Amino acid sequence: MDKLIIEGGVKLKGEVTVSGAKNAVLPILAATLLTDEPCVIKNVPNLRDSNSMFKILRSLGKIVEFDKGKVTVCAGKTSNYIAEYKLVSTMRASFCVLGPLLGKLKKAKVSLPGGCVIGVRPVDLHLKGIKALGAQINIDSGYVEAKAKCLHGAYIYLGGVYGSSVLATDNVMMAAVLAKGKTIIESAACEPEVADLAEFLIKMGAKIKGHGTPIIEIEGVKSLRGAMHVIIPDRIEAGTMVLAALITEGDILIKNVQYHHLGALIDKLKEAGAHLSYADGSLHVKGNKRLKAVNITTLPYPGFPTDMQAQMMALMCVTGGISVITEKIYPDRFMHVAELNRMGAHIQREGPHAIVEGIKGLSGAPVMASDLRASACLVLAGLAARGKTSISRIYHLERGYEFIEQKLINLGAKVWREKE
Ligand code: EPZ
Repeated sequence: MDKLIIEGGVKLKGEVTVSGAKNAVLPILAATLLTDEPCVIKNVPNLRDSNSMFKILRSLGKIVEFDKGKVTVCAGKTSNYIAEYKLVSTMRASFCVLGPLLGKLKKAKVSLPGGCVIGVRPVDLHLKGIKALGAQINIDSGYVEAKAKCLHGAYIYLGGVYGSSVLATDNVMMAAVLAKGKTIIESAACEPEVADLAEFLIKMGAKIKGHGTPIIEIEGVKSLRGAMHVIIPDRIEAGTMVLAALITEGDILIKNVQYHHLGALIDKLKEAGAHLSYADGSLHVKGNKRLKAVNITTLPYPGFPTDMQAQMMALMCVTGGISVITEKIYPDRFMHVAELNRMGAHIQREGPHAIVEGIKGLSGAPVMASDLRASACLVLAGLAARGKTSISRIYHLERGYEFIEQKLINLGAKVWREKE
């Protein structure tokens, strides 16, 4: 296993282009299971998670080719409806093959994804939704087995104790597009990645309205055709690069950004005194002074994204004040707190809150990545810290940030890899 070494203290300067959105690519690749015709997906980032989904699709009978950001998915000689534990356990998001398998084949056997360090990660809303569409469900030996003579439209309230669910909305939408009749999903997730999936399904011939809002209406159709789609930019990578500019007091032009996808983050950063300007799809960020501490509460989109919570905590470590960070989506998503404290941060955990007392500066140290966004947080902290930071288990980082080292090196960062 590799570790990432960062010599901190460099002000990052230059330009960086954001890659395609991981959390749009994964369900859109799963959606290719809804047709036997070829599909072409462009702007696909070369990530561990993208490659995991390619493997899952191949295990389900698809022929998948990936070259320079373009994926072509065609039907193979046979199709399979079983998504194995050994594949699903490497990436929870694989669970989003359940809906399209059920929609297309009227049967699916998908391993339960299990939890991860950020939380238990239940799938009750996924199952509630597909049951409402007429599926019989049996859970046996760690697998969900679902089958249906035919799927029928339904009114489904999909809100959970933590609000809406991104992948449950995706799964239900992908089962409903081939159901007989009309489906209404109430309390649907509004994330841009859900809307991007719906746009792809519409290109395939699905009839969907209201995507990107809490009420999605789907009129089932008999079959779907192949389609071509270009993935939206990754708003979480964009947000992470914004914080890299601010935490190093650098000056970065971030290209391929959808400004309106970053509303909550930009609002908070402006409250903290950051200078950001947007023109022609690019965001210019100039970090020039210690920012004010601000309080953060994570919420479903368009609220402050939980996937930016860890990265924002790194920035709040070096402001001039106290920041209270409340995690409402995954109350345990604080594995990065102990690692930041190893770097000299003053953070206290109180249940779903982390109280961050800003300090003058962090100091480099050996730290360990625990999940994708915690590893991004530690990279940001390492870029700002005095001295050297070594981050072990960086396979977490490789799941969701395409060519991240090269992008940072191009901005002047002193970053390299060493064997563990
Ligand atoms: C998606 O996960 C993202 N992953 C996550 O990003 C992101 O953190 C999350 O949405 C929230 O925005 C992908 O899109 C591949 P949820 P998902 O269902 O869909 C609870 C990253 O770093 N819940 O929206 O699995 C759940 O426990 C990853 O890129 C239920 O209670 O998340 C959580 O508290 C991490 N029952 C809340 O809902 C269910 O059936 C939101 O989870 C499903 C979820």
